[in-house]
Amino acid sequence: MTRLVAGNWKMNGSLAANRDLLDGLVSVPGVEMAVCVPYPYLAQARQRPDGIVLGAQDVSEYAAGAYTGEVSAAMLLEFGCRYVIVGHSERRALFGEGDVMVGRKALAALHAGLVPIVCVGETLAERDEARVMEVIDRQLGAVREVLGAAAMSGVVLAYEPVWAIGSGRSASVAQIAEVHGAIRAWLDGHGVSAGAVRILYGGSVKPDNALELFDVPHVDGGLIGGASLAAADFMAICRAAAGGV
Ligand code: 13P
Repeated sequence: MTRLVAGNWKMNGSLAANRDLLDGLVSVPGVEMAVCVPYPYLAQARQRPDGIVLGAQDVSEYAAGAYTGEVSAAMLLEFGCRYVIVGHSERRALFGEGDVMVGRKALAALHAGLVPIVCVGETLAERDEARVMEVIDRQLGAVREVLGAAAMSGVVLAYEPVWAIGSGRSASVAQIAEVHGAIRAWLDGHGVSAGAVRILYGGSVKPDNALELFDVPHVDGGLIGGASLAAADFMAICRAAAGGV
């Protein structure tokens, strides 16, 4: 399946900086490249190089109405989004998003015709307690509960160990292989057409480790934070996803 490399700009950027960044991107054959930008910059990012797709970083679980501050999936679609990240660990930890809310956001995205990129992953404490798959089972289970198994095959998953995000310390090849394999098996075991679901890895992916991380079985792309803010780094990671060409 075609690898997806999505840049999560998080709460970074300015009109001037975004223009430089977007102008520095060129689509890489064989890889789907996406930029997930802050809401106010969606309009700006509609002007971007051919072959780069657009995404957002969050979406409301509600369709429309009296929900001050929220942004609906239909609005994202109207601004040209294809993807939306839901359940990023920063939203779970800092903004109180629970497993069920993440499921509802994924459902709202799918209803509108967007593809949710659903993030899962454990904290360091949970890893130290050998609870990695217990946590991921709970996170995935809530999404399946809300979406149903059939619709869940329409999402993209991202395994992002919380301790690897922004730390400069990515998970090891062995750790990623183990969790991605377990997620694939989880999907198979829960009636989700696993072959259709891309599983991205996220957490300190950089140009110098991208090649080995993309080589891990069941890694179908990456969700890139810090390194997506520098065009040269993001391009190098996308080329690595294409097989290093
Ligand atoms: P970093 O690549 O900066 O570690 O961030 C990963 C991430 O959170 C992407 O969603």
